[in-house]
Amino acid sequence: MKLKSIVISLSIVTISINLNAQNGKEVFKQNCSACHSIGKGKLVGPDLEGIHTKRSEEWILSFVKNAQAFGEKDADAKAIITEYGYPMPNQNVNDAEIKAIINYIAESSPTTTNSVEEAEPVEEITADPILDPANASASDITTGLHLFEGSKRLENGGVSCITCHNVQHRDLIGGGLLAKDLTKVYERLGGAGLNGILSAPPFPAMASSYQNHPLTEKEIYQLSAFFNDAAVNNVYQPQRVYNDHLLIYGGGVAFLVIASIILLVYIERKRKCVKENIYKRQIKAATSKNIY
Ligand code: HEC
Ligand code: HEC
Repeated sequence: MKLKSIVISLSIVTISINLNAQNGKEVFKQNCSACHSIGKGKLVGPDLEGIHTKRSEEWILSFVKNAQAFGEKDADAKAIITEYGYPMPNQNVNDAEIKAIINYIAESSPTTTNSVEEAEPVEEITADPILDPANASASDITTGLHLFEGSKRLENGGVSCITCHNVQHRDLIGGGLLAKDLTKVYERLGGAGLNGILSAPPFPAMASSYQNHPLTEKEIYQLSAFFNDAAVNNVYQPQRVYNDHLLIYGGGVAFLVIASIILLVYIERKRKCVKENIYKRQIKAATSKNIY
């Protein structure tokens, strides 16, 4: 009797752990995989393989919920944030979900099991030199630019990137300032990092724009090629300076023109009055009639 109930409760425990890990996989995929891999090398953030042995559960919970704030208190957190120099955005996941993720990571770390099948296209793109955005053709770069600025529609109907982002590029007008300037994003994230972020944007504002309108693999490649071009050629592309000049000189000239028109009208007004105008016109008409 006793044995039976132990077996039952044990199997319930294992089933729930399994469910937990399953759920963890989903949550990880949705929230973390853009920046983290498990055993496939670092992307935007560190490889999380074996993180459950490196950090305590308590530590991971605090870090994932608010890395910045935690980093001010905890030396290890501070060290890793300094190392990456890219603050991990606060994740909208609850404690249970983080625990499920930790379980999933534990299950997927080779020391525990061999089920590492989280096949992200990330690796393929960097591994294949032909598919490296740094080697893209001029036409892919141009298409990337057109996708970015919206002169070419995104296949699945997503809003164009320029709505929220700016890239300094000779062929582009200034873009939105709602989100980060992406001129140097390629240097920051590399092809693999970009691929991760663009396949599953981890930022709420961006995620909501692309959740139902995902970018295609080809588009991600072309956008990355454009970002690489922008970063590499950045020195020769004084677009922002041009914009400033436009503002200062263009705006300044426009202001002076408008001001002088107002001034002229005002001076005219002061010198004459409407009645005098009418009076003069009538006199003139009268005199001209007299002449002819
Ligand atoms: C936008 C990219 C991004 C997303 C999304 C992201 N992280 Fe991170 N993560 C980072 C970066 C970058 C670091 C390195 C530390 C830092 O700069 O904050 C990091 C560090 C960590 C660390 C500490 C690693 C160590 O070696 O100590 C853990 C744990 C972690 N992330 C877990 C998660 C989990 C779990 C999720 C999903 C719920 C997630 N991260 C989502 C970018 C991200
Ligand atoms: C609705 C606004 C919005 C749109 C549209 C948008 N993004 Fe973003 N994007 C964001 C926000 C917000 C962030 C988070 C970083 C920040 O606060 O600037 C971000 C971050 C990024 C990052 C990471 C930047 C970094 O340095 O970590 C990349 C890369 C990026 N976006 C690329 C794109 C591309 C490519 C497109 C077009 C396909 C696009 N975004 C469209 C709002 C947007």
